Amino acid sequence: MTLEVRNLSKSFGGLRAVSDVSITVRPGTIHSILGPNGAGKTTLFNVVTGALPPTSGSVHLMGVDVTGRRPDELVYKGLARTFQRTSIFPSVTVAQNVALALRSRMKLNTSMRVDGDARQLIESETLRVLGAVGLASQAHTTAGQLSHGSQHALDIAIGLALSPKFLLMDEPLAGMSRGDRERIASVIRSLRDEHQLTVVLVEHDVDIVMRLSDTITVMQNGAVIAEDEPLAIQKSPIVKRAYLSGEIAA
Ligand SMILES: Nc1ncnc2c1ncn2[C@@H]1O[C@H](COP(=O)(O)OP(=O)(O)OP(=O)(O)O)[C@@H](O)[C@H]1O
Ligand SMILES: [Mg+2]
Repeated sequence: MTLEVRNLSKSFGGLRAVSDVSITVRPGTIHSILGPNGAGKTTLFNVVTGALPPTSGSVHLMGVDVTGRRPDELVYKGLARTFQRTSIFPSVTVAQNVALALRSRMKLNTSMRVDGDARQLIESETLRVLGAVGLASQAHTTAGQLSHGSQHALDIAIGLALSPKFLLMDEPLAGMSRGDRERIASVIRSLRDEHQLTVVLVEHDVDIVMRLSDTITVMQNGAVIAEDEPLAIQKSPIVKRAYLSGEIAA
């Protein structure tokens, strides 16, 4: 039940954005990836989720080599992601946003008539995922009118549609107020503790990463420079020297 990245590299022309990265994500954990801007975190996500082909190396999902599979195939195999910027439709309701994501994952054309079973599945899934992120009471609100924090919660709900086993989250707390960040942090914790999800988290808020994570991998210039539990990462001389001294020592 693991997600395993083996010796993965991704180059853009002469730039090695991801360089020989190997990571094993244990099931039922929150595994965070820390690193300065340009370290290669989003590129790693893009390759793992099938949005970009790797230059070399492989990705294994629950023991199966899934390198180069398309994102929609990987969603069916239990691997979903959220994006660095929210990808919601602002002019339709919260529930319609989830339903649209579900329809596209169920390969239903939105103009097609949905038969009774599919409609029921969409309705129950929509309620389930909105409940999981605390948005059930705002199901009929227009998404664009939600607070910034709630829009990110909706993005997570869309990621949860169709019950992935692994959810890769790229900066889910970016640009939020302190209060919203704490709210989304507890949603992320509940994904692990109450919904048995495995979360791979890219996030610059070091304080929250330290509190949420079971394991932290630190990247710099495309490569992994450290991986350990939060306390050990906090104390690691390599990590301190390379990048985090100010933020973590504080
Ligand atoms: N499609 C692309 N074409 C060319 N270069 C790219 C492309 N995507 C990313 N890069 C480069 O690869 C490097 C890694 O970028 P990436 O976005 O993966 O970093 P990141 O760790 O996610 O940074 P941030 O914390 O700012 O989001 C950067 O130098 C970036 O400019
Ligand atoms: Mg990024």
